[in-house]
Amino acid sequence: MLRNTSSGYGRIAIFFHWTMALLIVGMLAFGLYLDQLPQSDPNLFQLYQLHKSVGFVVLALALMRIIWRFANPSPKLPTGMASWERMAAHLGHIGLYALIFALPITGWFMVSASPWGIPTVVFNVLPIPHLPVPEALGTKEEAEGLFKVLHKYGAYLMIALIVTHIAAALKHHFIARDDTLKRMVSTGPARADTSSSL
Ligand code: HEM
Repeated sequence: MLRNTSSGYGRIAIFFHWTMALLIVGMLAFGLYLDQLPQSDPNLFQLYQLHKSVGFVVLALALMRIIWRFANPSPKLPTGMASWERMAAHLGHIGLYALIFALPITGWFMVSASPWGIPTVVFNVLPIPHLPVPEALGTKEEAEGLFKVLHKYGAYLMIALIVTHIAAALKHHFIARDDTLKRMVSTGPARADTSSSL
């Protein structure tokens, strides 16, 4: 069955979760690696083309995932969670969704604002146009600098949210011993619960 039930996720939601988790963790590590390479590195241009290409794959998957998510609401949070834990879970999930979009979009704006005007061609096949950058953001250098800061601190915030997300999943599994992690791994039956998880 593709749709989730009231207590479990469907195969498509599980596919989106783990594919995007792998791509995003990989992109965070890749971005930080690229950032410390010297400008003279002969592979820098190709490596940034790869970073941008995978970033657009993440953006496309994020769009598909959010549409899927609205059509197939997530199962409920386990019973027995304190109200602050429910609130933290909702905020954490909203933050992760927001950053899944914000990181590719700030990257896209950054390269669009760059005075170098370097084209983006996803995997050397699909040309991506530059976005219009509002004049109110100042010169091209200033606008590029702003998006660079947003991209960088957005990435740091995402690392913090992912670490918290993993810690919470492990706490559910090993301490609360509920089905929260299991139901994101397989579509098997899980315990019935009480409230929406976002
Ligand atoms: C899931 C999506 C993405 C993630 C997780 C991600 C992550 C990162 C990280 C961690 C850095 C290093 C930041 C720093 O320490 O300064 C970085 C740099 C960069 N990213 Fe991304 N990125 C994503 C998508 C994109 C996209 C779609 C583009 C462009 C279309 C892009 C363009 C860049 C550029 C040009 C830099 C270098 C910034 C600089 O010169 O300091 N990124 N990215």
